[in-house]
Amino acid sequence: MSIEQLVTGAARTAAPPLAFPAGFRWGAATAAYQIEGAATEDGRGPSIWDTFARRPGRVHEGHTGDVACDHYRRYREDVALLAELGMGTYRFSIAWPRVKPGGTGPVNVRGLDFYDRLVDELLAAGVEPMVTLYHWDLPQALEDGGRGGWADRDTAAHFAEYAAVTAARLGDRVGTWTTLNEPWCAAFLGYASGDHAPGRTDVRTAFRAAHHLMLGHGLAGQALRAAGVRELSLTLNLARVSSADPADPHDVAAARRIDGVLNRIFLDPALRGEYPADMLALFDRFGAADVIADGDLPVIATPIDLLGINYYQPVLVRAQIGAPALPAYPGSEGLVFAPQPGPVTGMGWHVDPTGLTDLLLRLSRDYPGVPLMVTENGAAYPDEPAGDRVADPDRIAYLDGHLRAVHEALSAGADVRGYLAWSFLDNFEWAFGYDKRFGLVYIDYETQRRIPKDSALWYRNVTRTNTL
Ligand code: FCB
Repeated sequence: MSIEQLVTGAARTAAPPLAFPAGFRWGAATAAYQIEGAATEDGRGPSIWDTFARRPGRVHEGHTGDVACDHYRRYREDVALLAELGMGTYRFSIAWPRVKPGGTGPVNVRGLDFYDRLVDELLAAGVEPMVTLYHWDLPQALEDGGRGGWADRDTAAHFAEYAAVTAARLGDRVGTWTTLNEPWCAAFLGYASGDHAPGRTDVRTAFRAAHHLMLGHGLAGQALRAAGVRELSLTLNLARVSSADPADPHDVAAARRIDGVLNRIFLDPALRGEYPADMLALFDRFGAADVIADGDLPVIATPIDLLGINYYQPVLVRAQIGAPALPAYPGSEGLVFAPQPGPVTGMGWHVDPTGLTDLLLRLSRDYPGVPLMVTENGAAYPDEPAGDRVADPDRIAYLDGHLRAVHEALSAGADVRGYLAWSFLDNFEWAFGYDKRFGLVYIDYETQRRIPKDSALWYRNVTRTNTL
């Protein structure tokens, strides 16, 4: 495909164009620690990711977010690029350790000043800002001194204080506020498998963290409501979880267990005000049931206006006698994730857009009345620039397939309000460091040069025409 074909859409073949609803929100997402750099600038305190990345063997080749995409200094150039690429909405996260370097206590005004400038720059460029308050960069101070990060109930209250001061500063210009990004990763990769910061491997602590994250979501939600924000949201990483043999009751039960500890453990408290019985049994089994205090669930169920969905791949589960529990999925002994035939991304993630259609329809059915938005979807591939161009046909195919999947869900009645690609820029991909490139825009980390990939030009054509 030539660039000309991409830009004009001339490469589109026989199929008639798919139109998206008027007002459908298009854009891309990033997260603070993954792009900002400037780790010690203007009074920012350390986060658990600064610490974790420095622990030998935790992050690919010892990479850290110290410099990342240098977005903290280059945000003007980046905002101009967002606008040029036709992004109507930009989802970014605020670094709690910039706003409150100690996690609680004094506000660092210079930290808030940065987001103030960023928001003004976005609005001036005609790009809608969408804020996430927690994308995993917990202030290290809340982890230290035996406090224990999200294992400590007080962290939820501190999160709400931080939400309140941030909304007081930006709420006049930012309409959409997301409390948490992917509490499953924060709790179970952070505290059970130890793959993410703070790198602990204690299942009881992971359940405590999961509940306190959700309590933090509810308390912050109340604070944001009190501040008068227009649209309150929560973003979860969700997946279609199927059984390898739908006729085998063991496989079906195994899939149900993974669906519980990945999906329902967060969906049910947030949207129904209760933990499902099988999840309560897991809290109990791992000695964490006492973490759920009277009155917590109504707080967690503070109504949201939008459910953000981060979708990358579906999960296929098979029962297998004697299989040990998967570290990030407590209670998963006696099952395995079955291989799924077909293409994979550079992460080894299975490409299957039907998983997204099914997920959106399942959410519409099981949790009716909540508008949905795909807040992350995308793929890493080993991109190589050739001069000024980065040809990434696999990413275009991935995005095209998943946008068709969203359209199919819309046609079947799902209330999907928007789609945000992950990610605007190549960035620090957590434990994989800079080794994995998810961006629509290529970053040359030596020079910090930005090169829009072919996928960015292709996507611009979609967002500008509202059709695929
Ligand atoms: C999600 C994260 C995001 C990015 C993508 C690939 O789990 O929210 O920061 O790492 O995966």
